[in-house]
Amino acid sequence: MYQENITALKKDAPIGVFDSGIGGLTVAREIMRQIPNEKIIYFGDTARTPYGSKAVSTVRKYTEQITDFLVSKDVKMLVIACNTISSTCLDMLRERFPQLPVIGIIQPAAQKVASICSEENSIGVIATKVTINSGAYQKAIKDLVPQCNVAAKAAPAFVPLIEEGIIDNEIMDLTIHYYMDDFIGDGKIDTLVLGCTHYPLIRKNIERLFPKLRIVDPSREIIGRVKKVLAERDELAGRDNDRENIFYASDLSENFTNMIEKILETERSNLILKFKNLEL
Ligand code: DGL
Repeated sequence: MYQENITALKKDAPIGVFDSGIGGLTVAREIMRQIPNEKIIYFGDTARTPYGSKAVSTVRKYTEQITDFLVSKDVKMLVIACNTISSTCLDMLRERFPQLPVIGIIQPAAQKVASICSEENSIGVIATKVTINSGAYQKAIKDLVPQCNVAAKAAPAFVPLIEEGIIDNEIMDLTIHYYMDDFIGDGKIDTLVLGCTHYPLIRKNIERLFPKLRIVDPSREIIGRVKKVLAERDELAGRDNDRENIFYASDLSENFTNMIEKILETERSNLILKFKNLEL
């Protein structure tokens, strides 16, 4: 009886999901759509975003603070809803929390690419500077499809524009042209990986400007991995899980509130939003 209760508690424990800001909400949104029994504790480091052009040592330090906080909330899994953190901190986190499954976003995306691409395809990855400089995407894809072409491009200005909500706007379209015209060229790239969890928020702009591109969205691909690992550990939440999703931010600004409503397509009154200062 006691053991059964412990197992049920574990199954219904929340999943810790985190990002430098609002980008990881694209992953949270997919968890809520695809595995709705699961409950989330989200952390967005909105006070210190963006991470993608910072020193790796800084990204590591911030990541330790975030994950220590989430683990103190008894999460059953850590989901890195950020490519910048996945590309630089995955091994560190697995060592730091050997008792917990830690799910990175790059490997599931590379597996998706491998399932749809052959040597005839030209794959482009856009991401932050830190992610591109780490070479993590290029390596993960090449390991699975060695003969294909992989080009990588840092597109750092997308993140602050998206955090500001500048999306359905000609400034965003110009920025997309600025980064992508030469990169995509005349058929130079046929498959584009959105290697930053903020970028699905501008997917429609990219599709409108480059309608022939095939797009891979890692924020969707990671959910299959989350589901598989929870199932293997017999930790999928039950239908009667009565916990609630909680969203923490290190700066609970109006921007964050507006963007979370927009991304999760709900009103603030339906959301539990909390402030958490990690620097104390
Ligand atoms: N959303 C993040 C990623 O996937 C990071 C963006 C940033 O903070 O620069 O890389």
